[in-house]
Amino acid sequence: MKFFIDTAEVADIKAMAETGLVDGVTTNPSLIAKSGRNILDVICEICDIVPGPVSAEVAATDFETMLAEGRKLRALRPNVAVKVPLTWDGLKTCKVLADEGTKVNVTLCFSANQAILAAKAGAAFVSPFVGRLDDIGQDGMQLISDIVEIYQQYPDFTTEVLVASVRSPMHVTDAARLGAHVATMPASVLRQMAAHPLTDKGLAAFCADWAKTGQSIL
Ligand code: E4P
Repeated sequence: MKFFIDTAEVADIKAMAETGLVDGVTTNPSLIAKSGRNILDVICEICDIVPGPVSAEVAATDFETMLAEGRKLRALRPNVAVKVPLTWDGLKTCKVLADEGTKVNVTLCFSANQAILAAKAGAAFVSPFVGRLDDIGQDGMQLISDIVEIYQQYPDFTTEVLVASVRSPMHVTDAARLGAHVATMPASVLRQMAAHPLTDKGLAAFCADWAKTGQSIL
């Protein structure tokens, strides 16, 4: 399973990339706005830190402008994945960019049928938003289960299921259990994945006992 970081904060990306556990990055217009930075600058910087796919989202909603934006974004660095919304214009853009050899991440996916269309359009990734479905009382993880099951029926579908809108470590556990290819999450969730009170307690006890031995390994 691959882990992407869902942020446009370069400092967070640098810190997490140093762990060697970050396979890619996802951004979106809201995250770029939050960073207060120019999208082209920030995407280049992120791409130079993380060699894996870095999703950069188009801002337009019509096919022609989305295509032009997508071509500009992909020219920034070889590891840019162009992110387009799951609309008819977005799917059309996906198909053209994918046929040109560009990795496309089709985002804002909220149904299995939308995910089927993304795969048909040649998307490298489809991003179902589990947290936003949970927020409106629907079962986000059931959608992941449905998409994984459907994609498994069609070996010619090469689209990876990128679990997005992840809000907690439990989302990651559930996504992994279902065999999703990727989970993208805020750096805080990745950090939480390593945390356990019994780990902290156990380590404190080991350190205290070790100090009593007066030994040194080095
Ligand atoms: C994914 O690519 C999106 O940027 C992201 O996961 C959205 O998450 P949110 O619902 O927490 O905004």
